[in-house]
Amino acid sequence: MKVLSAASELFPMVKTGGLADVTGALPAALAGQGIAVTNIVPGYPAVMAALEKASPFHAYKDLFGGAAQLTRGTAHGLDVIAIDAPHLFDRPGNPYLGKDGKDWPDNAQRFAALAKAAADVAGGINKAYRAEVLHCHDWQAALGPVYTHFLGGPKSVMTVHNIAFQGQFPASVFSLLGLPQQAFAIDGVEYYGNVGYLKGGLATADAITTVSPTYAQEICTPEYGMGLDGLLHARRHVLRGIVNGIDTAVWDPAADGRIPATYSAKTLRKRVANKRALEARFKLEPGDGLIHGVVSRLTWQKGMDIFAASLDQLVATGARLALLGTGETAVENAVFEASMRHPGRIGVIIGYDEDISHLIQAGADTILVPSRFEPCGLTQLYGLRYGCVPVVARTGGLNDTVIDANDAALQAGVATGFQFAPVDAATLEHALGRAAECYSNAKLWQGLQKRGMDQDVSWARSAAAYAQLYRALVKA
Ligand code: ADP
Ligand code: GLC
Repeated sequence: MKVLSAASELFPMVKTGGLADVTGALPAALAGQGIAVTNIVPGYPAVMAALEKASPFHAYKDLFGGAAQLTRGTAHGLDVIAIDAPHLFDRPGNPYLGKDGKDWPDNAQRFAALAKAAADVAGGINKAYRAEVLHCHDWQAALGPVYTHFLGGPKSVMTVHNIAFQGQFPASVFSLLGLPQQAFAIDGVEYYGNVGYLKGGLATADAITTVSPTYAQEICTPEYGMGLDGLLHARRHVLRGIVNGIDTAVWDPAADGRIPATYSAKTLRKRVANKRALEARFKLEPGDGLIHGVVSRLTWQKGMDIFAASLDQLVATGARLALLGTGETAVENAVFEASMRHPGRIGVIIGYDEDISHLIQAGADTILVPSRFEPCGLTQLYGLRYGCVPVVARTGGLNDTVIDANDAALQAGVATGFQFAPVDAATLEHALGRAAECYSNAKLWQGLQKRGMDQDVSWARSAAAYAQLYRALVKA
């Protein structure tokens, strides 16, 4: 079966977060299920540079304001159709923001182009290819189901990775989209008088998925639905949660070329070399005590404002911290100031760096994820695989992937980490205290590490769930 996956990010070419990890890893897992995935992505400079064996696929005289060429090739083992539209995508850096840190003013056109090209390709604009299912990820690709619904095309799946980002634009954008007038309605893209891309995708897709069962329930409520809960509640019969897996080849402590010492659950003591390297990299005092790790966007979603305010308390528990992240200026400043107050105890690197993210998972004792909401979360899955014990908020995918080390779970031998809720300074500090106490019992701690490393965090089960969904759609 052929599936066209449409997304604005694809690891390792373009990544601002977990979306790229998912779209980059799912195709290989689906191949094992007999599903051939082709990935349509904007032709950002990094995508065009990575494309090999490229050949012309389709030429547009005018795709939202300029000529464009669809080019098919392979990139890092993925089958890719790049939308080579220099007027829209030949811009370096972050895929959404200009140098001033603000959204590109033509994002409505840029991502309508992604969706339109995806719908065209899926529908067979080049006779050599036709998809049985068009699978669109997040708001940037969310007009895909709208186009296939109103203009014809295959069955569609809309996956929500984060409902906080919806792609809302003024009503005037509608006339650019080339959709019939009836698409500007409650069962189309109209959203409180404006145009909502994600709203349109959710209203028209044949199936909706999100990246964990708990988040699937949460987004049907006003607390988490960010205005789309009513629509999602009404469409809950086509909504389901499929928890993300991880690319176990990229994230493999036994074969990770980015870390000083590789190890497995049987050779956990080798981790200490990574801990030493982590201390050096983050200018932490060396020692065998607890080191917490953070790899995160420094944003409200991730609870990083609350976390930043708890750093004196973290140090008071005797622990150290290695934090890697970028994001909101106020949070960046707060964590940086804490590192100045506690030299040797709090190490902060403001930036985005894949290598350091692997070093943290391989050398820190915990990975902290105090998110206010978290559709799935991948860093806790990397933590499980690396024996880096997750300390997480009890929400979304964090709830579904980490088993709290309460007495019952410890006795039953199933605990893999620590959960806390709701996210506030007191519960966070309590969780840090529990982790510190458990860490002081080496046997208990190693039990958590080993059990985490034993979990199946691969894509196997979830790829099977997607494959089943595609097949059911095509049959229907
Ligand atoms: P989200 O997509 O909401 O940011 P996820 O946990 O799903 O959250 O995915 C985040 C991904 O981005 C992970 O692969 C994580 O390692 C990576 N990441 C986040 N911040 C950084 C950073 N500063 N440097 C390197 N990788 C990062
Ligand atoms: C989003 C979510 C994150 C999820 C990722 C991949 O960025 O914030 O929780 O893991 O998408 O699905």
